[in-house]
Amino acid sequence: MQNFSFHNPCRIEFGHDSIAKISTLIPPQARVLLLYGGGSIHRNGVYDQVCTALKDHHWQAFSGIEANPEYETLMQAVRFGREQQLDYILAVGGGSVIDGAKFIAAAIPHTGDCWLIVGNRTPLLSALPIGVVLTLPATGSESNFAAVISRRETNDKLSFKNPLVFPSFAILDPSCTLSLPPQQIGNGIVDAFVHTTEQYLTYPCDARVQDRLAEGILQTLIEVGPITLNDPNDYAARANMMWAANQALFGLVGVGQAQDWATHAMGHELTILYGLDHARTLAIILPALWRYRFAAKQAKLTQMGRRVWQLHGDDISVAQQAIAATEQFFIAMGLPTRLSDYQIDAAEAADRVAEQLIRHNRLQLGEKTDLTPEDCRAILLTTN
Ligand code: NZQ
Ligand code: ZN
Repeated sequence: MQNFSFHNPCRIEFGHDSIAKISTLIPPQARVLLLYGGGSIHRNGVYDQVCTALKDHHWQAFSGIEANPEYETLMQAVRFGREQQLDYILAVGGGSVIDGAKFIAAAIPHTGDCWLIVGNRTPLLSALPIGVVLTLPATGSESNFAAVISRRETNDKLSFKNPLVFPSFAILDPSCTLSLPPQQIGNGIVDAFVHTTEQYLTYPCDARVQDRLAEGILQTLIEVGPITLNDPNDYAARANMMWAANQALFGLVGVGQAQDWATHAMGHELTILYGLDHARTLAIILPALWRYRFAAKQAKLTQMGRRVWQLHGDDISVAQQAIAATEQFFIAMGLPTRLSDYQIDAAEAADRVAEQLIRHNRLQLGEKTDLTPEDCRAILLTTN
């Protein structure tokens, strides 16, 4: 096991009726900036619950944060927050609203060019405190310190990480997810699955607790995925999905382990270039990457095949079957695994993604930092 340091200061309030706890979790004197997306929270009653919980607070709302949150929109919220002297951020939504909230929390007190926050190109001295009400289990953003921000004008989708933007609390009420359309449920299951494998499916590091945590999360997603897709009113399935997605990127799976975030690196480029949902890019890339890197990943693929997929046979065949089973699972969750399924030409996409990776200086990806943009091009070429 490699050395590691772990700290996660986010309080989690899990279960139905927990939105009401906002009233005591946010300090009474706070001037709250409530952030949300395109309006799903008006239709499913979450907005009303938040208003009730905030009735004794000063608060103002900024809405319209889009999927893959856009820098220009977020800067409007930054100007609004500064004008109104708001000093506490409450994000109500999925990964996009939460990531946008992290950027806004860092940008409001920032004195320089705010775009440099993205990509960690400027030091941050402070950030406003953040609270979260999660409505879409997928990214784990509700209790981690990462955010992914897009700038369509320049074809950039880049992340930043800073402990200053750890949410102080995250409300996880599975009832808030009952209104999700099947596409977003499938996306959430696959995103959480890939977060787990990007920290687990590398090479053996003798990190036994982390491996078994990863395998438990994967098995849970495989179990509850079909149930929660077929029956949106199954609270227990949604609750387990919500907790699995949270734990997938809470920080514990990856400690002491080699990690491989190449699927996400390529996926972000596919999203900014072609507009595909985040998880849909991952479903295309991950099986192709595993086949391309079969020798390097075979030991962990075999372990996953035996422990997660309950496969039998020799090591090589179990590893191959594990890739096939994973790909079939993504398809069963409603996520196609070929670029051609989206009428995107793989040869063109492979070239464009490789160019973007070079422009973004993502030159050494993978668990051994030996995966080049040329390798990524070769991987994408196989997804036709
Ligand atoms: O905007 P509204 O109207 O709320 O609709 C949203 C949005 O259209 C809808 N939705 C959310 N909760 C709902 C709901 N619809 C009905 N009922 C509900 N309860 O779902 C749509 C998608 O929302 P979005 O927040 O974009 O999805 P997701 O949570 O998948 O977030 C994706 C973003 O997170 C980033 C991705 O790159 C992408 O930009 N990620 C962030 C990570 C992190 N911070 O750690 C890690 C991830 O790997 C990922 O990169
Ligand atoms: Zn993801």
